[in-house]
Amino acid sequence: MTPIGLGLAALGRPGYITLDREKDFGSDRSVATMERRCHEVLNAAYDAGIRYFDAARSYGYAERFLASWLRKRALPPKAVTVGSKWGYTYIGDWQVDARVHEVKDHSLAALRRQIEESRALLGDYLDIYQIHSATLESGVLEDHAVLAELNTLRASGLTIGMSVSGPRQGEVIRRALAVRVDGINPFQSVQATWNLLEPSAGPALAEAHDAGWGVISKEALSNGRLADRDQDAIAAALAYPWADVVLSGAVTAAQLRSNLGALGLRLSPDQLAELSNVAEPTDHYWKVRGRLSWS
Ligand SMILES: NC(=O)c1ccc[n+]([C@@H]2O[C@H](COP(=O)([O-])OP(=O)(O)OC[C@H]3O[C@@H](n4cnc5c(N)ncnc54)[C@H](OP(=O)(O)O)[C@@H]3O)[C@@H](O)[C@H]2O)c1
Repeated sequence: MTPIGLGLAALGRPGYITLDREKDFGSDRSVATMERRCHEVLNAAYDAGIRYFDAARSYGYAERFLASWLRKRALPPKAVTVGSKWGYTYIGDWQVDARVHEVKDHSLAALRRQIEESRALLGDYLDIYQIHSATLESGVLEDHAVLAELNTLRASGLTIGMSVSGPRQGEVIRRALAVRVDGINPFQSVQATWNLLEPSAGPALAEAHDAGWGVISKEALSNGRLADRDQDAIAAALAYPWADVVLSGAVTAAQLRSNLGALGLRLSPDQLAELSNVAEPTDHYWKVRGRLSWS
């Protein structure tokens, strides 16, 4: 089993913000072709020892592709850990150039609808259910009804998590650590962007880890911006003791094999410090990310 997980944001739908999709996918983005490609990478991942798979309701057909692969491989639910997310709905209609690809809704009604949809596809495979990009502005961390429902889902056996994005990740994580509903904090895991260009969430992720939460690092290659040094970038993300899982966003088996080469690297403190010199100011990083176009 490896501490690298596989994220399906770029494999579950025809368009995404990662940089080189035309080269990776060409023009055939039919559902059947994308499902076949997704299954190829899932096979390569499982065969290499990857056991955490990360989806979301809004990643097009990611949950559906993952479910069809799990059943094709006849894997028992305990053989893998599956995470998904609620809070965004995919409305891209399988178009690369859709005007809008996903809409955000962190309401109780959205949670109730999407957990049913996720369970209908993933059934007993579903282990971790995360708020997709919790923010202070959406009010989701103060919404008693949503938090109480998450406690109920937790009591049913799901691990409850949250993901964060944007320049205030650390603040949102700390707010979530302080949440209590009926004396219980519903959250047991957090997924956040941590990479060499944008490491600012690190201290808050260390606090979450110390509080007993599982920590999943995402976007280790900054959506492809760090692809030319993928092994160093992933090894750097793995170097922190608070990082339980680092997601690979590979979209081909060859990319995945290259990403997995990070497991063989042991960065010295000097090497890690040298690599860390590329960090960008947080606000600038998220402005650049916000300008990435879907392709
Ligand atoms: N808010 C949230 O909850 C949230 C947000 C974002 C992501 N996530 C999760 O994090 C996962 C990873 O995000 P990400 O896909 O942006 O990850 P990433 O690892 O930062 O970027 C992955 C991209 O890098 C490129 N790449 C990777 N290895 C390569 C190689 N060896 N050679 C050349 N290019 C390579 C590929 O894109 P190209 O070839 O197209 O350049 C690939 O799609 C997602 O799948 C999702 O599960 C969650």
